[in-house]
Amino acid sequence: MNKIAIVFWSGTGNTETMANYIAEGVRAAGGEAALLGPGDFSASQFSAYSAVAFGCPAMGSEVLEEAEF
Ligand SMILES: Cc1cc2nc3c(=O)[nH]c(=O)nc-3n(C[C@H](O)[C@H](O)[C@H](O)COP(=O)(O)O)c2cc1C
Repeated sequence: MNKIAIVFWSGTGNTETMANYIAEGVRAAGGEAALLGPGDFSASQFSAYSAVAFGCPAMGSEVLEEAEF
């Protein structure tokens, strides 16, 4: 299986840019990339992917954003 989920949240676009580059790399390597928001992914979906990448920014005192993510 060569299907990768990239689950991210981005406020001002930086994490989204990284997520898009990761998806581009996955596709260039012949894989299938799914770009998903935190509300689009749950633990029950892990088995549908060969790998899952998570990304969100630090949003104060080095704490990861936690309202959405
Ligand atoms: C309210 C706020 C708090 C932040 N706190 C941190 C932090 O504690 N450490 C850090 O390295 N960056 C911090 N940043 C910078 C963001 O993590 C950084 O700009 C990131 O690239 C934003 O990602 P995004 O464009 O995907 O939202 C903060 C930004 C904001 C707006």
